[in-house]
Amino acid sequence: MQKVEPNQAVRLLYPRLTVLVTTVNPAGEANAAPYSWIAPVSFVPPMLYLGIQRRETLTVKNIRRTKEFVVNVVTKDWADKAIACEAKIPDKVEKSGITLRESRKVKAPSALEAKIVLECTLKDIIETGQADHFLVIGEIVHAEKDESMQDSEIVLHNTGSSFFLPGEKLELERRK
Ligand SMILES: Cc1cc2nc3c(=O)[nH]c(=O)nc-3n(C[C@H](O)[C@H](O)[C@H](O)COP(=O)(O)O)c2cc1C
Repeated sequence: MQKVEPNQAVRLLYPRLTVLVTTVNPAGEANAAPYSWIAPVSFVPPMLYLGIQRRETLTVKNIRRTKEFVVNVVTKDWADKAIACEAKIPDKVEKSGITLRESRKVKAPSALEAKIVLECTLKDIIETGQADHFLVIGEIVHAEKDESMQDSEIVLHNTGSSFFLPGEKLELERRK
């Protein structure tokens, strides 16, 4: 075993889902940005969290104002477009080639390309001590899945520009 410096240790929590978070501002202007610090936090009510840098990203600004966001799970067929939405440039969403569509329950749009879509309302934005990320907690108010999606299409994030596709399936017996 090699020692990993504590300030690099969170990088060992990989792979993680890659998602595109779509939001809208009160003027109706949409935004999208890729995220991979995401996990479930509750079955009932269904809730998830995002870890978002503790600065006013457009995503957090929009979520604070409209109290809604949509998590679009990224698959291989549109991963390049989703990742392009990281750019801090004007009209990045249009330039990425992503098509936004209306969501069912929230004003924030969804990505037409996404095969798993989770529409969320904001429950909390938590600042933990000196942590450099906000915990943005959302309740899932509507969800959709394209049942033709294969698990092997889901893009997992390692770190930086390194991604994975899920490989082998493994069934393990659980003793509850
Ligand atoms: C694959 C990928 C995963 C990312 N995951 C996160 C994350 O979990 N948290 C975060 O704060 N930023 C993450 N980023 C960086 C944001 O996408 C970046 O800060 C973006 O410019 C924010 O855009 P916005 O200002 O439109 O919200 C990630 C970027 C990529 C490409």
